[in-house]
Formats: sequence, C-alpha cells, structure tokens
Amino acid sequence: MDHLDQPGSGASGLLLGHSEIDRQHAELFSLIDRFSALLNRQAGVEALVPAFQLVLSHLQRHFDYEVRLMLAADYPDRERHQKDHERLLSEGAEMLRLLGGTGTAEPKKLYEWWRGWALMHVIREDQQLGDFLRGAP
Ligand SMILES: [Fe+2]
Ligand SMILES: [Fe+2]
Repeated sequence: MDHLDQPGSGASGLLLGHSEIDRQHAELFSLIDRFSALLNRQAGVEALVPAFQLVLSHLQRHFDYEVRLMLAADYPDRERHQKDHERLLSEGAEMLRLLGGTGTAEPKKLYEWWRGWALMHVIREDQQLGDFLRGAP
C-alpha cells in the first residue's frame, strides 16, 4: 500500500464502497492534508491549533455517523470499532493539548504517528464495516 505514504494521497485509495462513508473520509483526509501542509510550512501554533481542531470536529461527526450506521445494522463488531474511535479521539485531543501547549512537542512527529493510526483504522475497522454493510462475505 505505497500510496499511503504519499502526502496528499487522501483517502482516494481507500474506498469502501459506501458512498457517504467514502465522502466523509475524503473530506477528513483533505482536512488532514491541509494540516500536514501547515506543518510542512512550519506554521505556528496559531494556525496549527484551529486546523487540527477542525480535523477533530470532523472526526467526531464522522464517528457519530458510523456509530449510527452500526447500531441500525446491528453490526457485531461495534464495540471494538467504537473503542478504536474513542482511542483516536482521545489521542487526538492529547495531541491538540500538546500543540497548544509549551511548544515542547514535536508537532510533525506527533502528527505522523496519529495520522498512521487514523489510516489503520480506515483500513482495518472501516473496511470491515463497509463489507458488512454491503453484505460482502
Ligand atoms: Fe470507523
Ligand atoms: Fe471512518
């Protein structure tokens, strides 16, 4: 999955076949790419914090949407999937706290680590949910 390492690749290679989830993922990854561009330009905290807040608020709305789908479909792995959402959100909140803090955090390293988890979630959990919702074996 080389495309995952390319900046700006967004979620284009990660389509799940559920149009609304795919649309929300594309939006999410474009916000993430925007944040990444700020990091590459070495933007200051005053630009980084609101950009990452935007990522997190989109993520929260997106997770809420997925949970509604899982409940409606009686998805058997909902608990595990939701736990992963919670972990991403709480690690994201911690990252936001560090970003807005004393400046001792290494934003880029921190961000890459978090983005890796976000991508893994889409690959592992969302893919399974997408298959389930499509009735794939
Ligand atoms: Fe998810
Ligand atoms: Fe998702």
